[in-house]
Amino acid sequence: MANIKLDFKLSGIELKKIMENEDIVADIHKTLHNDADKEEAFLGWLHLPSQYDKTEMLRIQACAKKIQQDSDVLVVIGIGGSYLGARAVIESLTHTFYNLLDKTQRKTPQILFVGNNMSANYIMDMLHLIGNRDFSINVISKSGTTTEPAIAFRIFREYLENKYGVKEARKRIYVTTSKDKGALRKLATEEEYETFIIPDNVGGRYSVLTAVGLLPIATAGIDVEKLMQGAKFAEKKYSDQNLKYNDCYKYAVIRNLLYQDKKAIEILVTYEPKMHYFIEWWKQLFAESEGKEGKGIFPTGAEFTTDLHSIGQYIQEGKRQLFETILHIEERDQSLKIPNDEDDIDGLNYIEGKSIEYVNEKAMEGTMKAHVEGGVPNIELRIEKLDTETMGHLIYFFELACAMSGNLLGVNPFNQPGVEKYKTNMFQLLGKPGYEEQSEVLVKEPTSKKKASKKNKKDKQ
Ligand code: PA5
Repeated sequence: MANIKLDFKLSGIELKKIMENEDIVADIHKTLHNDADKEEAFLGWLHLPSQYDKTEMLRIQACAKKIQQDSDVLVVIGIGGSYLGARAVIESLTHTFYNLLDKTQRKTPQILFVGNNMSANYIMDMLHLIGNRDFSINVISKSGTTTEPAIAFRIFREYLENKYGVKEARKRIYVTTSKDKGALRKLATEEEYETFIIPDNVGGRYSVLTAVGLLPIATAGIDVEKLMQGAKFAEKKYSDQNLKYNDCYKYAVIRNLLYQDKKAIEILVTYEPKMHYFIEWWKQLFAESEGKEGKGIFPTGAEFTTDLHSIGQYIQEGKRQLFETILHIEERDQSLKIPNDEDDIDGLNYIEGKSIEYVNEKAMEGTMKAHVEGGVPNIELRIEKLDTETMGHLIYFFELACAMSGNLLGVNPFNQPGVEKYKTNMFQLLGKPGYEEQSEVLVKEPTSKKKASKKNKKDKQ
């Protein structure tokens, strides 16, 4: 199994300093493991790779096969933790232009994600893209009440029912939701849709290795058992409470030490475009887990060398509040040599015959050196190979690191109270029943107007 190694020599943090956290890390580790079975602790993901429901797995694989046989498109409806993990794994492990390939090249259905925004353009264009082709829907929502996926489901369900009739449409709708809560569960029961369970003790952003991620991932032709094996390997590898032997916990400690040293922004860097959505998944995992109570590292991402031509300037010379974590993929599955050109007008013959991966590697080494010299600490995660097991490994690595890191920071990494605020305001503005009371204040008097009217009153007096 391909491995992952942590290299922190460019982080500016000494092993001795890391080891000062030995006891607290061991305490948090014990608490996590002791509480793993407590429903309210939201730790269902901790032993999921070694204890997942094998019957559910077989059902997921069977459904994926059915979708592959009867559909050219799978429409996956979900947002946040009910969206990003599946997309991250699919994009990292399939052809870069998977969805643009024709059916014969792809062999498995196009996977289209919707319900993660409220853009009419996006939805209309997707309906246009599907056109007359056969499709199925996998709607994913733990609460079953999230507005964006609920709207998308209404629209796509209607489209499906109009195309196939209500009875046949029922056989093409797969619902992933909680066991016995929420509107989606109720609807699924009434309509007798095939359902998959999101365990109550697994929060959205920790749920990619449940049916939430596994059904779309399997439908894209990825071996989900291998994904779980990679995660299981990681579960074992990072089960050592001793910080000295646990790279996952070391990463959590290092980022907290950097944070204490006023490095409040972490950039997760990739040199592989296929990892774009993995970075999006990681951003959500850490932002929702740690950004609370006025604390937390701001997680952001960069794709190099692309972004060296945009935010590269800031990273090199802007405010010194950054550190980078580099996902260094050592072995690529494809290779391409730079051709010779007799005229050499572009001056590239000095690297003629070298592979693009080699040049990418040198760009990475040069960039790391430049950024470190410019005052940006670098943490390196060396990934032997980007394959299915490695993705499972990486997912588990970051989930556990996030749980450890949030605890070191002193926040609860499993809640997200802050995301309710915008929803409450939106519901008030939309006049959702139960939210009327304050809606008049919000609609009639935005803050700027309130200030102006106070001033006017004063002026009149
Ligand atoms: O991580 C989380 O808990 C959130 O990002 C949720 O996944 C997201 O808000 C979607 O929620 P739901 O699955 O209930 O529709």
